[in-house]
Amino acid sequence: MVEIMSGYQTNNKSSNLIAEHLGKRSIVLVGMMGCGKSSVGRRLAAHIHLPFADADDEIERAAGKTIPEIFADYGEAHFRDRECRIIKRILEDGPQVIATGGGAFMRVETREAIARHGLSIWLKVELQVLIERVSRRNDRPLLNTADPKLTMQKLMDERYPVYKLADITVESRSGLQDDVVRDVIRGLNRYLTAETEIKEQS
Ligand code: S3P
Repeated sequence: MVEIMSGYQTNNKSSNLIAEHLGKRSIVLVGMMGCGKSSVGRRLAAHIHLPFADADDEIERAAGKTIPEIFADYGEAHFRDRECRIIKRILEDGPQVIATGGGAFMRVETREAIARHGLSIWLKVELQVLIERVSRRNDRPLLNTADPKLTMQKLMDERYPVYKLADITVESRSGLQDDVVRDVIRGLNRYLTAETEIKEQS
């Protein structure tokens, strides 16, 4: 049966293949602020019939404070500790689709936990698209600077070599969500098929 979801077509076969080969592992979306991890993650989860978790939402719920409040009250280092703890906890409940905050993958401990319990996917989106998206909201403490575009560029320079370590990279010029979801599904199919072939050969 062909399923049509908001403008893109895939079939049940591809969602079944993903579910079957994923086992207990989660799909973990990483990438810069504004790249669409939460919205793409939600759509992807609905499509492959898995629960969705947003790490930032879980951090806020557990703390009873918003992310800007956590940064203001305790500082970034404290936020990063919480983030690492919460992501490790969410990863225990796989399989699911997890959207992480832009800085999460930078911490080696978090990255290792993701590698143990999940498949990481970097959503790589053009700077201009990121800037347009993040300028719509004012809840990202790291971008409260005189020149948010320059700050984003610096963060990208720092983070891209690490994001590159993700299992799968999905690159999109426009960042259009339907296209990104479709490409994520393609990327997952390719990755999991190759993984199965390697297992069968060994
Ligand atoms: C951050 C990204 C934010 C949030 C926090 C820090 C980062 O999440 O975790 O403001 O370091 O890039 P999003 O990537 O969902 O905006």
